Amino acid sequence: MVFELTDVSLLQSGALIDGKVCESISGSRVDVIDPATSKIIGSVPEMNGEDSRKAIAAAETALATWRTTTATVRSKHLHAWHRHVTDSAEDLAQLITAECGKPLSESRGEVAYAASFLEWYAEEAKRAYGDIIPPHQEDKRLLVIRQPIGVAAAITPWNFPAAMILRKVAAALAAGCTMVVKPAPQTPLTALALHVLADRSGLPPGVLNTITGSIDSSRQIGSAICESPTVRAISFTGSTAAGVSLAQQAAGTVKKVSLELGGNASFIVFDDANIEEAVQGALAAKFRNSGQTCVCANRFFVQSGVHDRFVKLFTAAVAQLRVGPGSEPDVTVGPLIDDRAYEKVRGIVADALACGAQVTIGGSQDSMEGRFFPPTVLTSANPQMRLATEEIFGPVAPVFKFETEEEVLQLANHTEFGLASYFYSQDINRCFRVAEAIECGMVGINTGMLSTAVAPFGGVKNSGVGREGGKYGLDEYQELKYICLGGVH
Ligand code: SIN
Repeated sequence: MVFELTDVSLLQSGALIDGKVCESISGSRVDVIDPATSKIIGSVPEMNGEDSRKAIAAAETALATWRTTTATVRSKHLHAWHRHVTDSAEDLAQLITAECGKPLSESRGEVAYAASFLEWYAEEAKRAYGDIIPPHQEDKRLLVIRQPIGVAAAITPWNFPAAMILRKVAAALAAGCTMVVKPAPQTPLTALALHVLADRSGLPPGVLNTITGSIDSSRQIGSAICESPTVRAISFTGSTAAGVSLAQQAAGTVKKVSLELGGNASFIVFDDANIEEAVQGALAAKFRNSGQTCVCANRFFVQSGVHDRFVKLFTAAVAQLRVGPGSEPDVTVGPLIDDRAYEKVRGIVADALACGAQVTIGGSQDSMEGRFFPPTVLTSANPQMRLATEEIFGPVAPVFKFETEEEVLQLANHTEFGLASYFYSQDINRCFRVAEAIECGMVGINTGMLSTAVAPFGGVKNSGVGREGGKYGLDEYQELKYICLGGVH
């Protein structure tokens, strides 16, 4: 076993529906693999559409009571769950590293980040205010109230096995919805452990239902969720292709769809930037989770006056990163999630080299054993390379040289995506000008890390619709109801 849990009861190998541990109806199971060693570390039920319908029915039954509980009661449940998650933080971090591969220090950070959504929405539940509108006629009184949308579903990715679940579930439960959660096939163990902790905190049966599946059966689960008239909202984090397919399938039942999809973040360093700080920001924005985050910097644009200095310092900083299994101390870059991910990154680097990129460190010629890709910096990047338009999802930093602000804005916005962007500048006028001109949902100025439970996370263009986190995250799980009271004297 690559991990040892203090509390072994967190290692749950059955799905959890209506407060009960369940096998798949077909009886089949699917293995969970440690990406660092390719060894099997567990297995979970391989569920499909039929199992999904069972989970949806449980959520529907539980909704009748949960939606009528007061915000105070829901808040108490979420606070209790937050305490359990915080108390089990180390065990959860071990599970995250075991099935997703990220360094233990990052997994610990992820648990804290994940827990912060429970705390935030425990409080926001109590602030789901409506409105009183000045009436248009003397005998009328107009009110707007917020109501839970109903049964909601979350389909979550492997790159943040805890945070992407709690970001959705905490908001849904706070709003008064019940939920079916389908974690990524690669990382179900963290999801199930979170659910065990929810049950321990007294969440009523059926309010949360976690179903598991394989890569193949996930499609059937997705379709069953999308086609169900009972499910009124879906929140999905993952690839743009999968998001588009889910949205198309969900259209038939006119659901609320919240999609957090692919990114192609620009990271711009202007001549007037603090270069040392920009290098630190670049490390954070690029190498978190081995470059496997939707908000990872994908394209570095560096102005000609500071280009060579930035590349030199950045390359020296990248040389300090330590690649290896996430469970080993001091490792800062873990493996890629699977062989397919590794081959994709290798292909993107090979294409860049064939199109004229220069390697300052790393590169596929230094490829290491297994799924470990060496942290790589490429210079002379150009728009013809695949990395200019595709999400790399690996520890590869391509640097493009630019001359003017106008030119870089055009380059940065020349993408179908619009999730996050970063830039470094010490000119306050430029800070506002560029932040407003960049086409994306989130901008980091003089920082490489912008995620927090208190702010809205989401994208524009093909990076998605809807927002998670902050006060805005509740909207995805609520309906507005307008009430018009007439005949008032
Ligand atoms: C993601 O990459 O999808 C999420 C990253 C974050 O929440 O910071």
